[in-house]
This record gives sequence, C-alpha cells and structure tokens, in this order.
Amino acid sequence: MKILSVVGARPNFMKMAPLHRAFQKRSGIESKIVHTGQHYDARMSEVFFEQLELPKPNYYLGIGGGSHTQQTAKIMLAFEKILEKEQPDWVLVVGDVNSTIACALVAAKMQILVAHVEAGLRSGDRKMPEEINRILTDSISDLLFVTEQAGMDNLSREGAPPEKVFFVGNCMIDALVHYRDRAAQADTVLKLGLQPKGYALMTMHRPSNVDTLEGLVMLLQLMERISKCLPVVFPIHPRTLNNLERFGLRARLFHIKNLHLLEPQGYIECLSLMQNATVVLTDSGGIQEETTFLQVPCLTFRQTTERPVTVSIGSNEMITDLDPELAHTKIRQILAGNWKTGQIPPLWDGHAAERIADILEAV
Ligand code: UD1
Repeated sequence: MKILSVVGARPNFMKMAPLHRAFQKRSGIESKIVHTGQHYDARMSEVFFEQLELPKPNYYLGIGGGSHTQQTAKIMLAFEKILEKEQPDWVLVVGDVNSTIACALVAAKMQILVAHVEAGLRSGDRKMPEEINRILTDSISDLLFVTEQAGMDNLSREGAPPEKVFFVGNCMIDALVHYRDRAAQADTVLKLGLQPKGYALMTMHRPSNVDTLEGLVMLLQLMERISKCLPVVFPIHPRTLNNLERFGLRARLFHIKNLHLLEPQGYIECLSLMQNATVVLTDSGGIQEETTFLQVPCLTFRQTTERPVTVSIGSNEMITDLDPELAHTKIRQILAGNWKTGQIPPLWDGHAAERIADILEAV
C-alpha cells in the first residue's frame, strides 16, 4: 500500500513525524511525503524536519504565500501532477491548513482515497479560514481520525458514516511524548537568562488577533501589562511581525521592557519553553493541546476553541478578547498556585500514529 502524506505549514510537521515513523515500521506500507511549501522560512519548516527526524520530502512544491485562493489553487495544480505520477492508494492529510483542503480536494476528484488526521474539530466560527478547511476536508475524506470526543460528536451530528470515523488519539502528542525528554534537557530557558517557572510564554498569529490595528494595539497593551509582573518570552510569527511593521507599531514592540522577543523557535526549543513556563498565552490550536498534556496553565485569546477538551478537563482557559486586565488577574491567580492542573485526555498516550497505521492496514 502506497501512502502519500501531505505537509505544508508548521503545525503539520509534528503530526507527520510520528505517522511516517509508524508507517516505516510496516513492511506493507510505502510512505512518501509531499511538502507544499506553504511555510518556507527555514525557521518555520526546515528546522522541524531536522529536529523531528523527518526525511527530506519526496516532493517539494515551493508554493509560498499569497491570498488564500492563490495559495490553495497553486497547491492544487502542483499536487495534481504528483498524483498523476504516483497513483497512491491513499492520500493522507493532517490538520486544517490550506494545504490540507487543497490536496484532499485534488485526491477526491481523482478518486484516490483520502485519510484525514485530526478530523471532526469545529470551532463553530466560519470566519476562521481553518474552520472552512476542516468542514470541507472532513466531508470529502474516506477515513476520519479523531483526537477528542467533541470531534466524534461533531462528525456524528453532521452525519459522517460511523464506519469511516475512528477515535485514535493525538499524533501531535505522540511527537511530544517522543521528544519531551530531549526538550527537558535543552538549555533554552537558561540561555535567555530566565529561571524555569519564572516567565510567561506567548505566541500570537491568528488573523482575528493580529490582522487589524485594533487587535495589534491590544496585543501590545497585553504585553506591556503582563511584562510588569513576569518576563514575557515571545517567539514572533512572521505574520504578526509583518503586520506590526505595516501598522507602524514595530518601535513600540521593541520598547517593551522585560520582553524577550525571539524569532520563530524550533520544535525542541518551543517544547522546552512550554515545559518551563509559568503560563502560556496563545491563540494557537496545537499549543492548547500541548499545554494540557504538560499540565501547564494556558490562557487562549480567542472567542471559541475547536479543542474543548483542553478547557473541560485540561489546563486551558479561554479569554474572549485581548483584555490586559483580565489576563493580569488570571496570571496573579496562577502565580498564587490557584489554577487547575487538569487531566490528560483519553488516548493522548503517544500511540495515535500506531493506531492509524493499524487501521489503514486493516481496511
Ligand atoms: C497558517 C495556517 C494556520 C496555522 C499557521 C501556523 C492556514 C489557513 N493557516 O497560518 O492554521 O496555525 O499556519 O503558523 O493555512 N510567512 C513567512 N514565512 C513562512 C510562512 C509564512 O514569512 O515560512 C508569512 C508570509 O508573509 C505569509 C504570512 O506569513 O503571507 C502568513 O502565512 P500563511 O501560510 O498564509 O498563513 P499563517 O498565518 O502562517
């Protein structure tokens, strides 16, 4: 059985590494990887391949940025040629980025079977590009691999045939389990001159937070407020940095005291920063899950989450706008030791990729 797996953007790489490793252990599976090049900076892509021990992709499409339509269309045109040549038995896509829907759609049109890893998640907010990608990808996939109960419930409500749907756990957590000891040994925190459990880690890149002047000003106010009580470590996403420049806010960012502004970090460095943080402030999807697994307090600055288990049983709490005062109150609560530790969700045990490989071999 030949499986052609697709990666494109940063959050895909840590899901693909355990899958490729699981596939390679099986003599009956030939595993090939296509990288669309949606993310192209070395710090957003190459470093993850190295650290996650992923082989060089078999195909690199070099698509890069552009509008959503341009990006999606360019990926589709390039991916069609690869499928014509490779004729795989399965195309496997992960997550909810533009590369996910683009490649799933090409495969479905060519009547090649599609497996979607991290299926069923729904934020209920169709203004998020990822939500559109999730709904469309799930509706054309032949196998749906789910990370949490809410995903099962969503797919059932939408009428997905039960025989297509499998609750397998979380491949991103597989990678975390595999690399957490290595991250624990990294000296990322000490190199910044910080103490373990003595700083806030921040990541922020969602269009809803960083694409408007209003959002960016709130973000700066948030950092200004928090950094008065705790050093803030902020590996900044290119989108966020570009937008701060575009709105003339770069100087204000650089003036914040007690702020450690970093370039995008590698996987091991990012895990190390998360493991040692007092609190994580984020709008990322994956980081909500990783902090839940690590039982590190997390504040998520979004209206909704497609990963509700991180709130219902994990260490995550939603803050529905970038309110500096509310965030400050929550952080004082965390510093006082008054925060839920949370539990690790069912099947987040490091074996999701193995389960997926078992199912693909059995169908
Ligand atoms: C994408 C995903 C998002 C994911 C995020 C993680 C979609 C719709 N969104 O958003 O779900 O959480 O990746 O990072 O697929 N850029 C660079 N270098 C890079 C990559 C991007 O400079 O290597 C800049 C470019 O200016 C680009 C912008 O960042 O236009 C946005 O990149 P894009 O891939 O469009 O979306 P992300 O915001 O990264």
